[in-house]
Amino acid sequence: MKLTLLYFSPTHTTKKIVSAVGKVLFEKFLCRTEVVDLTPALAREREYVFGEEDIVVFGAPVYGGRVPPLLSPVLSKLQGNGARAIVLSVYGNRDYDDALLETADIFTEKGFLVCAAGAFVGEHSYSDKVGGGRPDCDDIVAAQSFGLLAAVKVRAGKPIEKTLRGNRPYKELGAAMTAPKPAPALDAEKCTHCGKCVSVCPVNNIAADLADGGKCIACAACVKFCPQGARAFADGHIAVVREKLEKNCTARRSPEFFI
Ligand SMILES: Cc1cc2nc3c(=O)[nH]c(=O)nc-3n(C[C@H](O)[C@H](O)[C@H](O)COP(=O)(O)O)c2cc1C
Repeated sequence: MKLTLLYFSPTHTTKKIVSAVGKVLFEKFLCRTEVVDLTPALAREREYVFGEEDIVVFGAPVYGGRVPPLLSPVLSKLQGNGARAIVLSVYGNRDYDDALLETADIFTEKGFLVCAAGAFVGEHSYSDKVGGGRPDCDDIVAAQSFGLLAAVKVRAGKPIEKTLRGNRPYKELGAAMTAPKPAPALDAEKCTHCGKCVSVCPVNNIAADLADGGKCIACAACVKFCPQGARAFADGHIAVVREKLEKNCTARRSPEFFI
């Protein structure tokens, strides 16, 4: 038996939730555990093949109410072969819309037995006033409780019983979600050329000399992880999105379990 923690997480909130759930699964099954971070582009070029003895905890952030489009190629190559899966969506306190349902559908279609699904909140990529600091202690405790319930289902080899929230056909991805963009603007006065933005970019959009490849997915990793605060979204669209989020989406939302 092997446990695999599989996630895409540019700003690390999804990673925290997958790790909390995964830790409980590890404690319950005491099996070999592998962590596969799909955030670096190279990791998404591989094919991931599982079998009946495998348990997979998968997590992705919600982008536009859906699974991030850049995951389609790697997810389309997944082979479940009867592996048991726990699927997680982490969203920025607005809504997860159809993302969790879409994730469960993908995993079912790829031959996994989906035993449990959960929607959790992470600080929004575009504002620390929306879901700021989340996942927090309460979220981690919720993730641990979810892990305990999910472990029972995994052990029994039973699929999700509760109906997942979401609609088919899934919400349409807006043009802003799919169109490649320039990287967040760089303040040359603040930049120390430390290379952090180069290393955290999941699409290798920023070259070593900081040249911009124009294929940014606006995940905000370079903005959040720049030690000098030298990167910011100058893009008008994201400023408008941020303003709307800060106006409408600050009421605390709670994790939801589908077991
Ligand atoms: C392009 C993009 C689209 C997003 N769309 C949504 C959304 O539809 N609903 C929502 O609540 N949060 C949305 N978010 C926020 C992220 O889902 C949230 O911040 C998540 O915790 C980020 O995960 P990460 O830390 O693993 O990168 C979006 C973020 C980005 C970058």
